[in-house]
Amino acid sequence: MTAPAPSEKALVPFVSVENMMRLVHHIGIERVLTELTDVIEADFRRWELFDKTPRVASHSREGVIELMPTSDGEIYSFKYVNGHPKNMAEGLQTVTAFGLLADVSTGYPVLLTEMTLLTALRTAATSAMAARHLAPKGATTMAMIGNGAQAEFQALAMKAVLGITHVRLFDIDPKATEKTRRNLEGSGLTVMACETSQAAIEGAQIITTCTADKQYATILTDNMVGAGVHINAIGGDCPGKTELHRDILSRAETFVEYPPQTRIEGEIQQMAPDYPVTELWQVVTGQAAGRRDEKQITLFDSVGFAIEDFSALRYVRDRVRGTAFFQSVDLIADPDDPRDLFGMLQRAKD
Ligand SMILES: NC(=O)c1ccc[n+]([C@@H]2O[C@H](COP(=O)([O-])OP(=O)(O)OC[C@H]3O[C@@H](n4cnc5c(N)ncnc54)[C@H](O)[C@@H]3O)[C@@H](O)[C@H]2O)c1
Repeated sequence: MTAPAPSEKALVPFVSVENMMRLVHHIGIERVLTELTDVIEADFRRWELFDKTPRVASHSREGVIELMPTSDGEIYSFKYVNGHPKNMAEGLQTVTAFGLLADVSTGYPVLLTEMTLLTALRTAATSAMAARHLAPKGATTMAMIGNGAQAEFQALAMKAVLGITHVRLFDIDPKATEKTRRNLEGSGLTVMACETSQAAIEGAQIITTCTADKQYATILTDNMVGAGVHINAIGGDCPGKTELHRDILSRAETFVEYPPQTRIEGEIQQMAPDYPVTELWQVVTGQAAGRRDEKQITLFDSVGFAIEDFSALRYVRDRVRGTAFFQSVDLIADPDDPRDLFGMLQRAKD
């Protein structure tokens, strides 16, 4: 007997890496980044109704594997993501991810997708959203320190959303800087490769740090940071892994995603537990001030939170509907008679 065809609910739309790449080019990368920024901001406005928990991290000597769940009561999502800074030297990605959306009313998954590319896109969009509220008005120049997998996405999001025109690059590995410079050719950005981080931040109103090292690093020291800049610190996102000297945090006004997670993982792990922070969602909803004056140093202590992945997954689900950019995967065993799971198994016996 041949196995019966799975029901419609058993077939889950799956977006492969290949299809994600096609989808992004079909829409246009800057449009994706702009739309994602707006979708994430819309979910930050609804922040209070989400289930929230610090991500569940499994640490090892080499890296971390994390699960990031959340729900708005109607849709549930989770992302599987790793962070292994030593991977790059072995020809592997530092960060890889995949994720799932499910219908809360049935518990059935409604989307399964690659999220390595999607994480780079959503991280860049989140940076742009934060900068929209915190960066000095009329910012034209950004420094990008750490020119790895995330770098081009970060630069393009700042261009698309904020109108950044100039990017100054620095990485301890000149090959990474050269790769980023080459990839940004033709993007409309004026790109300058710099030999030191000090040179890279010259004249920049936005400084993004996006390095990977499983240790306390000092990518920026206090004397490097002048009045009025916005720092977008992405790479410090694990216990024992930071990028900024703590003196910078003493001078800056710090904005975070979800304090219970950021206090463990972010730059602020270096500070006392009562170090004051502002939650970004409160800035987005107008309950708290963003940038107040031209002299203020603003810091977005980004670690990446589950709601950003939820937004990105929701965006992909809406964008692939009615297109050819997904496959249907027979993921859920769904017998016609719900109690006859065993009978369904038997039907596949030859
Ligand atoms: N906050 C978030 O939401 C979020 C999301 C994704 C990734 N991340 C983090 O961002 C970081 C970068 O990720 P990636 O995928 O681009 O990693 P990657 O390994 O591809 O790139 C990291 C780059 O940093 C460079 N680097 C290391 N130490 C440096 C230093 N002292 N000065 C200058 N450059 C240095 C490396 O040479 C490399 O080119 C990781 O730490 C990752 O965990 C955070």
